[in-house]
Amino acid sequence: MTPAIAVSHLVRTYNGLTAVDDLSLEIPAGELFGFLGPNGAGKTTTINILCTLLAPDSGSAHVAGFDCLAQSREVRRAIGIIFQDPSLDERLTAWENLEFHGMIYHLPKLLRRQRMEEVLRLVALWERRHDIVKTFSGGMKRRLEVARGLMHEPRVLFLDEPTIGLDPQTRCRIWEAIERIRSERRTTLFMTTHSMEEATRCDRVAILDHGKLLVLDRPQALIARQGARNLEEVFLNLTGRGLRDEAASENEMLRTRVRRLKRWR
Ligand SMILES: Nc1ncnc2c1ncn2[C@@H]1O[C@H](COP(=O)(O)OP(=O)(O)OP(=O)(O)O)[C@@H](O)[C@H]1O
Ligand SMILES: [Mg+2]
Repeated sequence: MTPAIAVSHLVRTYNGLTAVDDLSLEIPAGELFGFLGPNGAGKTTTINILCTLLAPDSGSAHVAGFDCLAQSREVRRAIGIIFQDPSLDERLTAWENLEFHGMIYHLPKLLRRQRMEEVLRLVALWERRHDIVKTFSGGMKRRLEVARGLMHEPRVLFLDEPTIGLDPQTRCRIWEAIERIRSERRTTLFMTTHSMEEATRCDRVAILDHGKLLVLDRPQALIARQGARNLEEVFLNLTGRGLRDEAASENEMLRTRVRRLKRWR
């Protein structure tokens, strides 16, 4: 069967900095995939390529069987995305933001209204639907963005840190929604998160650092393989404890990574 996502030797640089470095991976349809890595690892850059918002320097990417470069229209029709950065129109109400989104995706009016109510209730914004988004708190804005991402029924849904800044109540609800669309619609979910607790719920996770794929496996397999207590320990063992901009030098960083990978293998 055609994989939902297939990436082969993908490279993307920004002014000499290699943000995505020879990345290859395949994700079968219906998988809940966790794309992990420290700040600046290249996760959002990869998502932007897969969503056809950014062209790679080299390599190829296919989503839902379509080429992200040559068939960008088909890819866009097949996907949904919850962006890391805010992308709501703050001058409009919550309702208008969703209405606009539903129209772009050609959801017929009745179905659109049904979905809008469903997702607004899901993120507990139904009562606030006629308020201007500018008057929302940060968490409420995030909830509205998640609601919008869940509104149409894409085959592949990208979620770039969907639960960041959310209270535990909303996080729980969003996870319930994720589980539901997965079981009911077999949507492929490609998500990034810095919560290792959330990552542990994924079918498989990849850990990326400096644009390179370090490992890709089931969370429990990674934990067992390294004799770690949990995924956080695996993550820290592989990517180190230093903050990204604290690294002494690029060479030192590379040497450390090679040492770690040797130990790992
Ligand atoms: N538009 C841009 N111009 C220049 N450099 C960029 C641009 N976007 C990203 N980068 C750089 O590319 C690297 C990867 O960034 P990216 O946003 O993909 O990381 P990320 O894994 O999503 O990080 P985070 O967890 O902080 O969201 C970083 O070093 C970043 O500074
Ligand atoms: Mg990011």
